[in-house]
Amino acid sequence: MSNERVAAQLPSDFDPREPETFESAHEVMADLRQRCPVAHSQVFDGFWALTRHADVVEVLSDHRTYVTSVQNVVPKVAFTGRRPPLHLDPPEHTPYRQVINRFFTRDKVAAMEPWVRRVTVDLLQPFVDAGGGDICADFAHRYPGHLFADFFNVPEAMSVQIREITARYDMALQSADDEQVKTTSLELYEIARAIIDARKAEPMDVEDDLTSALLAKRHHGEPLPEDLVLGTIRQMIVVGMIAPSIFIGSMAVHLCQHPDLQDQLRADLSLVPAAVEEYLRLLTPYRGFARTAVTDVEIGGQRIPADEPIALVYASANRDEAVFDDPHTFVLGRPNIDRHLAFGMGPHRCAGEGLARLMLTTVLHELLARTERIELDGDIRMTRWPEWGTLRVPLRVTGAEAVR
Ligand code: HEM
Repeated sequence: MSNERVAAQLPSDFDPREPETFESAHEVMADLRQRCPVAHSQVFDGFWALTRHADVVEVLSDHRTYVTSVQNVVPKVAFTGRRPPLHLDPPEHTPYRQVINRFFTRDKVAAMEPWVRRVTVDLLQPFVDAGGGDICADFAHRYPGHLFADFFNVPEAMSVQIREITARYDMALQSADDEQVKTTSLELYEIARAIIDARKAEPMDVEDDLTSALLAKRHHGEPLPEDLVLGTIRQMIVVGMIAPSIFIGSMAVHLCQHPDLQDQLRADLSLVPAAVEEYLRLLTPYRGFARTAVTDVEIGGQRIPADEPIALVYASANRDEAVFDDPHTFVLGRPNIDRHLAFGMGPHRCAGEGLARLMLTTVLHELLARTERIELDGDIRMTRWPEWGTLRVPLRVTGAEAVR
């Protein structure tokens, strides 16, 4: 079949590279959900995009047909090797998750609370004292790097190095600078190598240290392949970084647009966890995680050939009017909030969701408790695919007289 004929048959042809505002991407996604829920774009070498909740769930429910190991994100950014757990399919994926999951149990996450609060307050209070600034550059893009550097139990000098490289890696991803992504990715591999060498020389308690636990893991009596342990550490350094770094600014924009909501939450800070959950639905930071079908499939009445990347547009699924009433509105305590897909579903469901919730509720709590008012103070800038969120959010902040 000629390319022209294929192109003529393709549904939609939206361009994910169009510049976006805080509202515009959701207008495009709402239009696609109505008009062309299984959309196609020629951009990024061509990909499919599922915008409806039911279609995304269908794919996530069948990991044998829809694999992650070919291309796990649109556009493809992994140039430098296989990194578990995201790049592997079950059963190869399973032993990595068995180890990682032990570090994010309810008890483990609860024990992280004082550490998360300290890192949050240490970075946030100077921002409040300064009367504000760009909450993305001054806080949100630095915050996860500070946490994860500590998570790997490394000496202070290496922590500083991790923070610095992850910040550059984050910026390279956001500006789609492929060369810089490759360079910083390789630097992160060097860090991961150094952490592994240190643990091989001197193992730590497998209950306290992820690297030691991965090295000690036996699967069918065998150690995990060392290149994949390396890939896992390299993955874990950054996997929890991007979403919080762009999501915090998105929450701030919405709060500035709704001062009444700021007042409501400040008056009763016990509402913060429910607010974060609704924000995860409304301001979902991912829209480009992907799968590839191993055979020709039909989704939502559309035939999709084998081997073509399929983006799972979580940000759109979470505003699907077929599931969520009044989907563009923030509704505190939504009855079916547990159906949101911000953390995915199935074997690759976010391993760090407990820590993510702790980070985000701590940030929102401390931001509200330490301020009387936050207001926008200039133009915001949005990320691009595969994320949805903010890169720049200038804020004017009125500090609270006493911390609530
Ligand atoms: C706002 C915060 C976060 C959001 C919205 C989020 C979302 C997600 C999503 C949607 C996936 C699934 C990807 C897929 O379907 O292929 C994922 C995977 C993952 N996330 Fe998160 N994440 C967040 C924070 C974190 C944090 C703080 C960590 C901690 C280290 C983390 C660790 C991981 C890991 C290890 C995976 C891979 C799981 C696997 O492939 O088995 N995430 N995350």
